[in-house]
Amino acid sequence: MSSKRISRDGEDLDPGRLPQHVAMIMDGNGRWAKRRLLNRIQGHEKGADTVRAMVEACREVGIPFLTLYAFSTENWQRPKREVDALMALLNKFLQNERDELQKNGIRLAFIGEIARLPPRVRQSLEEVVAATASNDKLRLVLALSYGGRSEIVRMARRLAADVAAGQLVAAQIDSEWISRHLDTADIPDPDILIRTSGEMRISNFLLWQLAYTEFHFTPTLWPDFGKEEFFQILRNYQQRERRFGKVDTGADPA
Ligand code: FPP
Repeated sequence: MSSKRISRDGEDLDPGRLPQHVAMIMDGNGRWAKRRLLNRIQGHEKGADTVRAMVEACREVGIPFLTLYAFSTENWQRPKREVDALMALLNKFLQNERDELQKNGIRLAFIGEIARLPPRVRQSLEEVVAATASNDKLRLVLALSYGGRSEIVRMARRLAADVAAGQLVAAQIDSEWISRHLDTADIPDPDILIRTSGEMRISNFLLWQLAYTEFHFTPTLWPDFGKEEFFQILRNYQQRERRFGKVDTGADPA
């Protein structure tokens, strides 16, 4: 047992055993609002504060990749009013946080079918992505209009097109090829997935990439989720033994 004191700000974490990539399913905004007799949109607004806190937390402790499931392909089926509000909130976030991201060396990236986003949101997104492209402290990846199955379908179509064009033969297709042709091509697989609100499913998030990821489910609703609980999850992660299907410890699957 470690005799180190448990700090509220994560300074007791072992920097050598931090996850390199944390993925989060931000769930429970609607229930958070309902419990307070607020509307769902107010829940999403409060959820945006947790987004800021998580970005700050990853930056502080030195986690280089954070992926947030901000809007799924299925979320397009929500009432138009809610979809519009989520898009407006995203746009506001992109515009308001641009300078803060820049100041803190954060690079913004996205995965998903961003062609489906309203043009103004897409434009803000592309602007911030371009402006922050050379930052290297933290890569903040927003999953937007993202679905794991749709990502795999898009990859399979490219694969078929490359084979049809005579640029690819079956023997060249291996898991590295597939990884390189997903939206996450230059992003390592997540080391840990955190889902808030007590739901224990992955809801079409990063289906390929989560093969060896550690999962953590917390009953806390996303707007109530904060740095203190996040650091506690990281402490717990640092105690886990990752075997990647092997019997020895600490080995990388590659
Ligand atoms: C799930 O909660 C949450 C979403 C579908 C949207 C997530 C968006 C945010 C946290 C805010 C904005 C994001 C950024 C990046 C600025 P839910 O509505 O499904 O909650 P419920 O299950 O309790 O109804």
